[in-house]
Amino acid sequence: MPDSNPFDPKEGLRAPDLFPWETDMTATAPSGALAPAITRRTDSYLVPIVNGKGGVGKTMLTLALAAHTVKANGRALVWDADPQASSYDLTSVMDSPGYEVVHELDPDHAERIRGMRHIDTIFGDCPGSLEGADILSRIVRQASFVLIPYDHEPESVLPTLRTARRVAELGVPYAVVVTKANPQVGADHVLDAWDTLDRQSIPHFRSFVRLYRAWPNSLKAGVPITRWNERHAPRLREDVAAVHTELLLNIGRVHRGGRARHGAHA
Ligand SMILES: Nc1ncnc2c1ncn2[C@@H]1O[C@H](COP(=O)(O)OP(=O)(O)O)[C@@H](O)[C@H]1O
Ligand SMILES: [Mg+2]
Repeated sequence: MPDSNPFDPKEGLRAPDLFPWETDMTATAPSGALAPAITRRTDSYLVPIVNGKGGVGKTMLTLALAAHTVKANGRALVWDADPQASSYDLTSVMDSPGYEVVHELDPDHAERIRGMRHIDTIFGDCPGSLEGADILSRIVRQASFVLIPYDHEPESVLPTLRTARRVAELGVPYAVVVTKANPQVGADHVLDAWDTLDRQSIPHFRSFVRLYRAWPNSLKAGVPITRWNERHAPRLREDVAAVHTELLLNIGRVHRGGRARHGAHA
């Protein structure tokens, strides 16, 4: 990654500096079932993580899924398409994240990024703001599967439903994932969230992510959640692993040879 100021969002726009792995094929996970030089037979999966509402856990889910992919000896790239560059900044200060990160606001780069067959999954941390609406739909259109994190807070309901409708209109398979589920209120938070989604016929995963201080603490310490040592960190890892498995199962159901089957849904 560029060693000039990582906090300058414009850093991400100089394409030649951004793709060092095109010459260095060992850039992502250090080991794996496949040697890094062996390329996929399909394009990388592109999984944008979107919600018009901020604070629902987009960045959390993006970084955690990328770290989990690496732990499973997969090769992950975080594409930070948010002008705020949180994913990029947080990863830049992380101790050996094991995945690549690129801050790139231009959705026209999507096709090129997807064509990188030595990456297994590209997780896209997408802008939550309205000014990012055009970027968002252009990224979503090219997605393998879209994840919509949802924290089931009152102010998140309408933006989440709107986001889901927009993604559905673009004809891309998607599902909502409940995030920040408070373990102290038992299953109610999650069940109530699912009920809200079911009423609107919005598909959602059965797996969800619980709310634990271990998440912000791991970020503060600059350690990927996969290696963070704190009382509830294993529970967070368990949740992320379940979401990741459910994601791959869903991608497997809707894709054949790397392309979405027409009309397929979560
Ligand atoms: N599962 C979780 N447990 C605890 N805190 C969380 C969790 N998910 C997100 N957070 C916290 O909530 C805030 C918003 O999350 P973030 O991922 O930045 O949302 P977004 O990218 O949608 O704006 C952050 O402070 C983050 O640390
Ligand atoms: Mg964010």
